[in-house]
Amino acid sequence: MSGVPILEVIDLHAAYGRIEVLRGVNLRVPKGAVVALLGPNGAGKSTLLKVISGQMEQTSGDIHMAGVHVTGAKPDDLAQLGLTTIPEGRSVFPNLTVEENLLLMSYAGVSADQVFETAYAYFPRLHERRYQLAGTLSGGEQQMLALARALTSDPALLLLDELSMGLAPLIVEELYDTVGRIAATGVSILVVEQFAQTALKIADHAAVMTGGRVVATGEPNEIEAIMADIVLGGAA
Ligand SMILES: Nc1ncnc2c1ncn2[C@@H]1O[C@H](COP(=O)(O)OP(=O)(O)OP(=O)(O)O)[C@@H](O)[C@H]1O
Ligand SMILES: [Mg+2]
Repeated sequence: MSGVPILEVIDLHAAYGRIEVLRGVNLRVPKGAVVALLGPNGAGKSTLLKVISGQMEQTSGDIHMAGVHVTGAKPDDLAQLGLTTIPEGRSVFPNLTVEENLLLMSYAGVSADQVFETAYAYFPRLHERRYQLAGTLSGGEQQMLALARALTSDPALLLLDELSMGLAPLIVEELYDTVGRIAATGVSILVVEQFAQTALKIADHAAVMTGGRVVATGEPNEIEAIMADIVLGGAA
């Protein structure tokens, strides 16, 4: 069974109304691997994550998680299987404190103490800021909180959409160091990024999406070398 990927997407199509934006996506995330999914604006990266995470219906194609056919599964069922998603944009509750944001995660059958312990071990800065409203944190700290929340669910597969959006390069590096540490504990990760170099540094494999399809896959260094050509080539 060791060869069964944690995620396999086969010929996936999806549309907004009559406009098809996923046009036959094939993608595979091996167990325990970090896969970077790169590509220009509008390529369909976020749409792909929405379909994988059950927030949007596909029109055709298949999704398997750890060998289980999950096409059309509800977000709750996917969570049971170990899928956790951090969507594009800030996904914390701005009017709640750091601690309250974390406490909301304790309803999943995990105690508040366990939640705090996991979160603060990865991000000591969140401990310092625990009584602060999440909306008043820096952008980087908000993403740390989003990651901390995601980790409390003990995911098998983590989907990350543009963690770096709007953040300074140094903060992005720091966040990705942590993503690398999370991966080292055995969590499989599919990371969508436009900040190609930072994501490629921690990736085991990379894929490039343009125009609703994965148009290249390979080792991070191979993809880094051809990335500019693909994107400038305007295949999207
Ligand atoms: N809610 C929506 N309704 C209609 N069209 C949409 C919607 N969301 C996205 N689209 C369109 O679908 C296409 C793919 O968008 P998507 O957000 O998946 O791309 P992306 O690769 O994540 O881009 P970005 O790098 O800008 O985040 C784009 O043409 C976009 O305009
Ligand atoms: Mg996007």
